[in-house]
Amino acid sequence: MTPLTPVLSRDWDRTDLYTLDGYRATGGYEALRTALGMEPDTLVGMVKASGLRGRGGAGFPTGMKWGFLPKDNPKPRYLVVNADESEPGTCKDIPLMLANPHVLLEGVAISSYAIKSNLAFIYVRGEVLHVIRRLRQAVADAYAAGLLGKNILGSGFDLDVVVHAGAGAYICGEETALLDSLEGYRGQPRLKPPFPAVAGLYASPTVVNNVESIASVPSIVANGVEWFTAMGTEKSAGFGLFSLSGHVARPGQFEAPLGITLRELLDMAGGVRAGHELKFWTPGGSSTPIFTAEHLDTPLDFESVGAAGSMLGTRALQIFDDTTCVVRATGRWIAFYAHESCGKCTPCREGNFWMEQVLDRLERGDGTEADLEKLLDICDNLLGRSFCALGDGAASPVMSSIKYFRQEYVDHVEQGGCPFDHAKSTVWG
Ligand code: NAI
Ligand code: SF4
Repeated sequence: MTPLTPVLSRDWDRTDLYTLDGYRATGGYEALRTALGMEPDTLVGMVKASGLRGRGGAGFPTGMKWGFLPKDNPKPRYLVVNADESEPGTCKDIPLMLANPHVLLEGVAISSYAIKSNLAFIYVRGEVLHVIRRLRQAVADAYAAGLLGKNILGSGFDLDVVVHAGAGAYICGEETALLDSLEGYRGQPRLKPPFPAVAGLYASPTVVNNVESIASVPSIVANGVEWFTAMGTEKSAGFGLFSLSGHVARPGQFEAPLGITLRELLDMAGGVRAGHELKFWTPGGSSTPIFTAEHLDTPLDFESVGAAGSMLGTRALQIFDDTTCVVRATGRWIAFYAHESCGKCTPCREGNFWMEQVLDRLERGDGTEADLEKLLDICDNLLGRSFCALGDGAASPVMSSIKYFRQEYVDHVEQGGCPFDHAKSTVWG
């Protein structure tokens, strides 16, 4: 059994962890002191060597992203923390910021110093007012203690941090839409390249990193590269927060090395709810193709999940048992994507609208067998043909649910509607 590796969640039981004193009592801000005594480029090299990969879903190497900042651009550099966590089933950054806002701020200070930025933004999902308040208090306390602002800890390094509230659009989690929103425009994805590292916020070199990625940096500085690479797999190093939700006895966040399996996580979470069996699950939120019980032993690292036909994504493990109708579940996800599509490109704007209609009529009993091919045809026009990852993400649950549960779709047609008793499904009831 792979043991849990609580690092970010180690002290979540402390009721005062969110305060500056509480965080400092656990050794907080010592890594910042160490980092400020190092050369910025040494820190970038350290994060590169650790193999830390973006924890927001895509898994791009963090140190490599920092290394893309152009050396000869005289414009200011910015660090932007993507705290717009909204992927269905994903529940890790928000609990992390609520339990321990200072570990994020310490990571922001170290990362900004490493990339030579004097202004950092934390873009938080607008609905989570309690998190925004907590972060703003933590920022104020850190300024008062000389951990942010001018001449941090007497090092000569200056850093200002702005906590910015989004307005509740899923697309603003896409990094370039986030930057547009931060600049005061309607949040819609920009064409890439140029990537933000070259031309990001206000067309200046910008690093956009996820909350969990940045919050992991202090632990690497404090414990060293070898400590980090000893966890996880060769290409997916370190630990990560796995959020288990849905039909599971004890849902919550489990911090474990990458490469742990769902079978192991379910053992720790008390298994699928009593009296039922696992039917399907998402390895990384609804934008990743679903898995079934045959994938229980797939190591949850970037390579293994990819080889098995899905993506590790945000490690949002949504568990669905045998009471769940896969057509209804997929329809709910697509209703979400249709609502959240920013409308910029036709395949996503129109495709999601039509998929929602088709799934709805299948569920109502008004579908035909031709609707399955229609859904796959729409997905074919979405996948790789959309302007941003939202379109690809929407195709994922539709294509994978038809791949694994085609007969269930056919049953909806042949039986004139949904064969499931929704009252028995706590997730969709
Ligand atoms: P991506 O693969 O296009 O980019 C990942 C990161 O690497 C970006 O920061 C990008 O700027 C950088 N990058 C990639 N190639 C680069 C290059 N050649 N030069 C410089 N930088 C480069 O993926 P994207 O669209 O940013 O994210 C998709 C992922 O987001 C999905 O896998 C999904 O799991 C996740 N996601 C997470 C959500 C959440 O709530 N956390 C919500 C929705 C999706
Ligand atoms: Fe907007 Fe969807 Fe196109 Fe992305 S794929 S740009 S969300 S319409």
